[in-house]
Amino acid sequence: MANAKPPTQAVARPQSKLIRVIAIVLLALIVIVGLAILIVWLTIKPKKLVYSIDDGSIHNYNLSNANHLNATYNFILRAYNPNKKVSIYYDKVDIVVMYDDDTISRGTIDPFYQPKRNATRFKLNLASHDVSLREEVARDLKVERTSGRVEMVVNLKARIRFKVGVWKSRHYHMKVSCAPIMVHFSTSSKGFQRTICDVDI
Ligand SMILES: *[C@@H]1O[C@H](CO)[C@@H](O)[C@H](O)[C@H]1NC(C)=O
Ligand SMILES: *[C@@H]1O[C@H](CO)[C@@H](O)[C@H](O)[C@H]1NC(C)=O
Ligand SMILES: *[C@@H]1O[C@H](CO)[C@@H](O)[C@H](O)[C@H]1NC(C)=O
Repeated sequence: MANAKPPTQAVARPQSKLIRVIAIVLLALIVIVGLAILIVWLTIKPKKLVYSIDDGSIHNYNLSNANHLNATYNFILRAYNPNKKVSIYYDKVDIVVMYDDDTISRGTIDPFYQPKRNATRFKLNLASHDVSLREEVARDLKVERTSGRVEMVVNLKARIRFKVGVWKSRHYHMKVSCAPIMVHFSTSSKGFQRTICDVDI
């Protein structure tokens, strides 16, 4: 009668031991992986990319009575990568210029590679070719023009990849929004207020 207990215990023991060993191994793995991620993160120390519009002006402005707009825009876009370990591939960059929620110009930047701790300036030469504006938008533009400058928005959409050492990341979508940009109607760009953009990856 007393013999009935030990066999059941003997069966139960190795099982609970096994479960404990598995739990310990799993826990150790989680801790090791977590530490590895932390160490990688601390060595790379990713920092946000910094974009700004450093200059902007409007030329050849002509808004017809039928609310068709012709103009050219010169913007200086500055892209700064503050990272010491991360460089960036820009595989596709689309630019949109907006006034009052109406798109007045589109452009692109050629694919480029940005090294670590690098600042690059891009001259964006954009234009409106006979762009049809909504009635109220055209009215706002006419009124604002009399002050010698207008408020515009420059948005960028980019497909980028990060590079750390020899490792390259997957593609990320990056949205950059620069607003408000006070753009002058003159060749002299003095008084232009540098605008820092919002960056969203
Ligand atoms: C604007 O365009 C219209 C039509 O093309 C032209 O008649 C007019 O002279 C232009 N105005 C200016 C200031 O260039
Ligand atoms: C804009 O330019 C086009 C030609 O590029 C011309 O046909 C049109 O009349 C111009 N419109 C204005 C408002 O100047
Ligand atoms: C940034 O990188 C570009 C492209 O590689 C290079 O032409 C430029 O000189 C670099 N600028 C600085 C400040 O290092």
